[in-house]
Amino acid sequence: MDTTFVDREQPRLLQELSEFLAIPSVSTLPAHSGDCRRAAEWLRTELTRLGCPVVTLIEGDGHPVVWAEGPAVPGRPTLLVYGHYDVQPPDPLEEWDTPPFEPTVRDGRLYARGAADDKGQVFCLLKAYEAVLDSDGRPPLNLRFIFEGEEECGGRVISDLLRAEPERTRADAALVCDMSYYAPEWPAVYTGLRGLCYAEISVRTLQRDLHSGTYGGVAPNAIETLVRILAGLKDEDGEIQMPKFYKSVEPPSKRELKTWRKLPFDKERFLHEEVTSRALTGMKDYSIFERTWALPTLEIHGIRGGFTGDGAKTVIPAQATAKVSLRLVPGQRYEKVGRQLERAVAELTPKWADAKVTLLHGGDPVVVDVDHPAFGVLDQAFESVVGRKAVQVRAGGSIPIIPELGLAGAPVILTGIGLPDDGLHSPNEKLDLAQLWTGIQIFGRFFELFAEQAMAKDGGTGADESVAEAEAVEMA
Ligand code: BES
Ligand code: MN
Ligand code: MN
Repeated sequence: MDTTFVDREQPRLLQELSEFLAIPSVSTLPAHSGDCRRAAEWLRTELTRLGCPVVTLIEGDGHPVVWAEGPAVPGRPTLLVYGHYDVQPPDPLEEWDTPPFEPTVRDGRLYARGAADDKGQVFCLLKAYEAVLDSDGRPPLNLRFIFEGEEECGGRVISDLLRAEPERTRADAALVCDMSYYAPEWPAVYTGLRGLCYAEISVRTLQRDLHSGTYGGVAPNAIETLVRILAGLKDEDGEIQMPKFYKSVEPPSKRELKTWRKLPFDKERFLHEEVTSRALTGMKDYSIFERTWALPTLEIHGIRGGFTGDGAKTVIPAQATAKVSLRLVPGQRYEKVGRQLERAVAELTPKWADAKVTLLHGGDPVVVDVDHPAFGVLDQAFESVVGRKAVQVRAGGSIPIIPELGLAGAPVILTGIGLPDDGLHSPNEKLDLAQLWTGIQIFGRFFELFAEQAMAKDGGTGADESVAEAEAVEMA
């Protein structure tokens, strides 16, 4: 691949990405479902322009999945590219220096919701493909693109699709570009993701709200009852207090722990600039990497109930609801954890209250064995552009569909071009443009090297173990 594409096309690429980012594809807010569709349409147009003979929006009960197939390249391997076009809500709006859906460049960074998570990275992959087409005149391998619009909201369109058609995503490897470098100049590949179990806990203690003077002292307060239940689920050191909860937790491998101990890490910078608190909390016997990558957590996201408007109202609330989630690690399954949560809440609920746990969505944790040759190819691509191989780390975050991608043993390459300070889900989310420009070269190189590697493996006779070849055999 020649490297002039990015230099030549920068202004156009920036213009196109800005157009994509300006679409407020906030999947969790029903008012934006038209915008989610517009973002999907934007991708459809782009994939068609890139010469994909198959480009479809797959409908379901929610936002569409964008599916595309590049031109068939017989004898070459098949790579599945996954990403998501939906974004998190942008609030609090007043904390943005420029509006979240008016992409703006400042100091070489592009600020917008979705700049790093994940539209900017989806764009990077599309442009890497375009760069390879521009330079080589034809695709080096078989590409399949799957972009969902419900990653951030736990929608089911993509999982329903993959359950109904497990063969669709069969590939020699999957490339997921929804993560970040470990640090500037330190590209990363991920050996694990945490899973998630998201739930609502509602408590009712009265039939209706009551005067807090007349009944205060005798009437059970729903918010108080709820916060006592919540407090009972986790102790002050961050240990989750649910029966047998840690039993199935598998510790990280020796190799992982050894790698993590050698990672450069500035605790003060992490505390003050990333976390922005005065102290770190959690299970003190474990390192920060273990706590954020290899141990489960329980977080309270919000509590609703009672009176929260301006002014004062003296009321005993009858009802209160909390949104909570647990991050899960290898060994745990979200369905089982959901049942454990239901049981723990039931045990913590006093007899005069009704508590209900509603599971909203979940995803299992992911473990990736990075010994497959595809990871060597990724290293080569990073090395040729950034001068350093990928460090092997894990992420505390989740991508619920990954365990369901149906890869049947094929490797899933979790990587990305973000930086740790991109501010995912926060105000002033950004993408460093230098990361985008190098990213286009990295993944362009990766496409070429992955094809070459598979060819070399079977001595140039055609990738006889590849998915493309298997399909040809099936059709014959
Ligand atoms: N890209 C993130 C996941 C991620 C975050 C990976 C940080 C690596 C590092 C993804 O878009 C995300 O935010 N996922 C949600 C999933 C949830 C809403 C089901 C998450 O982790 O909260
Ligand atoms: Mn993401
Ligand atoms: Mn996200």
